[in-house]
Amino acid sequence: MQRRGLVIGNWKMNGTLLFTQELACAVRDGVLERIGQQRLSCDLVLCPPFTGLSVARHALSEAPVGLGGQNMSDAVSGPYTGEISGAMLRDVGCSHVLLGHSERRTLFGEENAGIARKMAAAFQEGLQPVICLGETLQERTAERTLEVIRTQWMALVPAILAAAEPHPPWILAYEPVWAIGTGRHATPDQIQEVHGFIRQQLSDHLGATVASRVQILYGGSVTPANAAAIFAQQDVDGGLIGGASLAAATFLAIADAYPKHVSIEE
Ligand code: 13P
Repeated sequence: MQRRGLVIGNWKMNGTLLFTQELACAVRDGVLERIGQQRLSCDLVLCPPFTGLSVARHALSEAPVGLGGQNMSDAVSGPYTGEISGAMLRDVGCSHVLLGHSERRTLFGEENAGIARKMAAAFQEGLQPVICLGETLQERTAERTLEVIRTQWMALVPAILAAAEPHPPWILAYEPVWAIGTGRHATPDQIQEVHGFIRQQLSDHLGATVASRVQILYGGSVTPANAAAIFAQQDVDGGLIGGASLAAATFLAIADAYPKHVSIEE
């Protein structure tokens, strides 16, 4: 089967409303131009900060660009000061939500069990969760990368198995912590090794059909210069882009690097 390519822009904590308006409009214009020229080869999603979601939704309305939150609560509503629910993300027009980003894990103490609860809550709201997995430099140096990825993945399996069908598709993103915002991306070989391992884990726990369908994105210092080599890897289905998504030209240039026809054997 053929998995569609997907490139997501994670703006992190950047952008006034004016910035959001201008950047989302520039992405919209670039997407519409590419569609007109039949040269858009992957799907696109933007994840501005919560405060920019409504403005971005408005700016993108004529273009097939998805919108995502950068995080959400596992609770539905109630006394959770400072939190945003999945229903609120849906209400503002989101189709996706990033969960378990390494900045959430390291700076805000998020752990595997809580991330799995958020995944279940996202399913209940009809949101497509994009769950981030990745090792630190220390873990890679100690040759513990695959063990760490496996532990992060295994925490999600019960939530996936328990989710009532049909639930929205879910997406995994491999983001080595040492490659995020450092300008030091993992090599295509390192990326394929981890993505192939994740695909095998998917197959072992959920079967070959599910494994062949799930999109696995790579994130960590992706730029227009390195995107094509990364996207050419067999088990890479797109990218989760931080810094380079803050300008329409670089974000769209990364999307342009996605190969037109990727044929995946079942
Ligand atoms: P950079 O592309 O800035 O390295 O960030 C990657 C990332 O964390 C996307 O979620």
